[in-house]
Amino acid sequence: MKIYLPLDSAAVALGADEVAAAVLAEAKARGVAVELIRNGSRGMVWLEPLAEVVTQAGRMAFGPMEPSDVAGLFGDLAKHPKALGLTEELPWMKGQTRLTFARVGVVDPLSLADYVAHGGLEGLKRAVTMTAPEMVAEVTNSGLRGRGGAGFPTGIKWKTVSEAKGDRKYIVCNADEGDSATFADRMLMEGDPLTLIEGMAIAGLACGAEKGFVYIRSEYPVAIAVMQAALDVARAGGILGDVLGSGRHFDMEVRVGAGAYVCGEETSLLNSLEGKRGIVRAKPPLPALEGFMGKPTVVNNVISLASVPVIFAKGAEFYKGFGLGRSRGTIPLQIAGNVKFGGLYEVAFGLSLGDIVDKIGGGTLTGRPVKAVQVGGPLGAYFPRSLFDTPFGYEEFAGKEGLIGHAGLTVFDDSADMLGMARFAMEFCAIESCGKCTPCRIGAVRGVETVDRIARGDAEAKPLLIDLCQTMKSGSLCALGGFTPYPVMSALTHFPDDFAAKEAAE
Ligand code: NAI
Ligand code: SF4
Repeated sequence: MKIYLPLDSAAVALGADEVAAAVLAEAKARGVAVELIRNGSRGMVWLEPLAEVVTQAGRMAFGPMEPSDVAGLFGDLAKHPKALGLTEELPWMKGQTRLTFARVGVVDPLSLADYVAHGGLEGLKRAVTMTAPEMVAEVTNSGLRGRGGAGFPTGIKWKTVSEAKGDRKYIVCNADEGDSATFADRMLMEGDPLTLIEGMAIAGLACGAEKGFVYIRSEYPVAIAVMQAALDVARAGGILGDVLGSGRHFDMEVRVGAGAYVCGEETSLLNSLEGKRGIVRAKPPLPALEGFMGKPTVVNNVISLASVPVIFAKGAEFYKGFGLGRSRGTIPLQIAGNVKFGGLYEVAFGLSLGDIVDKIGGGTLTGRPVKAVQVGGPLGAYFPRSLFDTPFGYEEFAGKEGLIGHAGLTVFDDSADMLGMARFAMEFCAIESCGKCTPCRIGAVRGVETVDRIARGDAEAKPLLIDLCQTMKSGSLCALGGFTPYPVMSALTHFPDDFAAKEAAE
């Protein structure tokens, strides 16, 4: 008997370890041989812990499991009260286009044989037959853009590093996933770490870098442990070292952050990686020219690098065939907050925000009307229902004074106080500011005070807040100070009643 139960942090938080222990105890008591595989999550967080039992028809899903539900897995599966049917047939799974997350939740994360059996290494095998310029061109032609949030074309970044002069070059993977409502990087590293390693090896070959780092936030202990173990698997399997016996070398290591949100900003991350304080560096010089230890460095997000193997395996044209406008390929949406069906949903760019929230997310968990959705983390804008026809794409969101960021969506019902959310944005910025530039360091503190003045009914405070936002937006050195105005201004613009009501109440 073969059973899958996620090792994924969300599943574990919901009791997966207790269910796993119950499976082993039940098997022992019954004298049944069970192969228990701890896999990644399928992304349906409301069904976690999700157990899957391998049957002749396919993998059958059961969830959300509790230890008391385990005994039933050893009986008539069709009559199990938590039976959901075949995993692949669940509407959540069927509606997706899983390219980057194709193996997450499917494979044993640390089995090279399982990885290869599910299409792993196909991209790298093709990559070692190509020249560096051909590899860079493949990424450029795929249309892949930075999935960390900025959406910069990955191929252009790789070209800059590939053509830069330097006795050493580096590939740095940004796994300091700090945005609220984001968990794609974590899920990928926990569920399919070899894909990220394969992507980094391809980046190394394309850019002439022989060394890479994955900078993972300390709040992700499971991802750190899985990635560490996966590096040994990759070395033994020839992905790292002399890459597939090609005579070209690449190796990498895991580095752990120390808990600063701003270390997700690439120059701050590089300082932290060099053992310095995580403070933002002025650009130029770009990290692509002077990055880690002053050498040409690619800094890419986990999802950008993990999308590279499928691009090489299936070709740039295949990947480019998905999407909308200049947003090509797929995007792993992370749906969270007050929502009925939260989780990870990978789909081609272009779905409307309304479809994502109402159809996929199923509306709010409280059953109350959706008031707002914050897209793109704590620096993202709040979208009201009147903008729910916005298609999910970089330019489409920018055109509505918003951003898709790392594709995290936080849903709020009509009880949300948007003045309070605007205050929270300024407070967050004040706490997380690295302190290097004045608009952010001082502006965020003044921002909290100004929102409080509005709450007290001070009519002069509102224009002051708008002025402050403009100064922060244009004068800040990095996205933390520069983007904090997005949530503040969107709250003020789309939900004026929440601000006026406070004034009236005084
Ligand atoms: P940016 O626009 O300054 O740069 C984008 C990337 O392109 C950088 O890596 C930059 O070095 C590179 N680049 C620009 N011109 C280049 C050239 N000619 N050649 C090679 N590389 C070049 O944006 P930034 O400040 O790096 O990122 C801001 C974004 O980060 C925001 O959109 C925000 O959504 C996102 N973000 C993501 C978080 C997360 O947890 N994933 C947290 C906070 C912000
Ligand atoms: Fe530091 Fe804020 Fe300035 Fe960014 S905007 S450099 S976080 S002070």
